[in-house]
Amino acid sequence: MAKGTEHMTGLKGKVAIVTGGSRGIGAAISRRLAGDGAIVIVGYSQNLEAAKRVVAEIEQAGGEAEAISADVSDLAQVRRLFTETMQGFGRLDILINNAGVGEFRPLEAVDEDHYIRLFGVNVRGLLFATQEASNLFGPEGGRIINITSGAAQSAPPGGSVYSASKAAVEAMTKSHAAELGPRNITVNAVAPGLTMTDMLDANIPKAVQQAMVEHTALRRLGTPNDIADVVAFLASHEGRWITGQIVGANGGLR
Ligand SMILES: NC(=O)c1ccc[n+]([C@@H]2O[C@H](COP(=O)([O-])OP(=O)(O)OC[C@H]3O[C@@H](n4cnc5c(N)ncnc54)[C@H](OP(=O)(O)O)[C@@H]3O)[C@@H](O)[C@H]2O)c1
Repeated sequence: MAKGTEHMTGLKGKVAIVTGGSRGIGAAISRRLAGDGAIVIVGYSQNLEAAKRVVAEIEQAGGEAEAISADVSDLAQVRRLFTETMQGFGRLDILINNAGVGEFRPLEAVDEDHYIRLFGVNVRGLLFATQEASNLFGPEGGRIINITSGAAQSAPPGGSVYSASKAAVEAMTKSHAAELGPRNITVNAVAPGLTMTDMLDANIPKAVQQAMVEHTALRRLGTPNDIADVVAFLASHEGRWITGQIVGANGGLR
């Protein structure tokens, strides 16, 4: 390896948890971090088959991964996810809070279940996963990367609960960064724009997706790999001086 490049794929020996690692953006992040050398815990809530596929892909590429189920809206399951990770691998270095529910509803269709579901996964899950991780990182510190959304700032109509949940994620990102920085734990958020996943197709009709492309500088939708590369940078040695930031990864969407 050329001098000065020894940290370029420097996640060897590190253990990363990716919540919602079974599909979409989380699956791409899992593959990328494993490609950089980390042992990856692929978190999922329901879709065991999808989680197993991601683990198999990582193993076929020479990496190491394990699928662990945990509905992050359930505190007991969050704690079990971290306990099983420590029992299996003995350390934790990186937490990617990616699991999220995206559902758009006009105000008149908002009910308590919708509110509880979105805040339960997007905010409460992230908060208590962060608490667990911060208790388990070693003396060298750790990295936490939260997946927020451009919708936190754009707050489109019909997205009040989703946008508010992601705005909460951004506030927590800054607060946790300030609180955990003295222990060399960085906390950042990546804010994707429209990214080609199941969530996008469930919420936004194809014709509207194509119309939105005209509002991006780069004239295309994002791919999960576009987001995973940004996350990998923040998790790497090269990202060590960045904390408390919300990094837009959206092809210049406005
Ligand atoms: N796609 C976009 O355009 C876009 C834009 C901005 C931000 N984001 C954000 O990016 C993140 C990933 O989104 P995505 O588009 O990749 O979503 P996705 O395709 O719907 O995948 C969601 C992932 O989260 C997991 N998950 C859902 N509920 C969970 C729960 N209660 N506990 C644990 N895991 C749970 C799913 O697991 P199962 O497979 O077990 O269901 C799946 O792995 C989310 O935070 C989302 O808000 C997405």
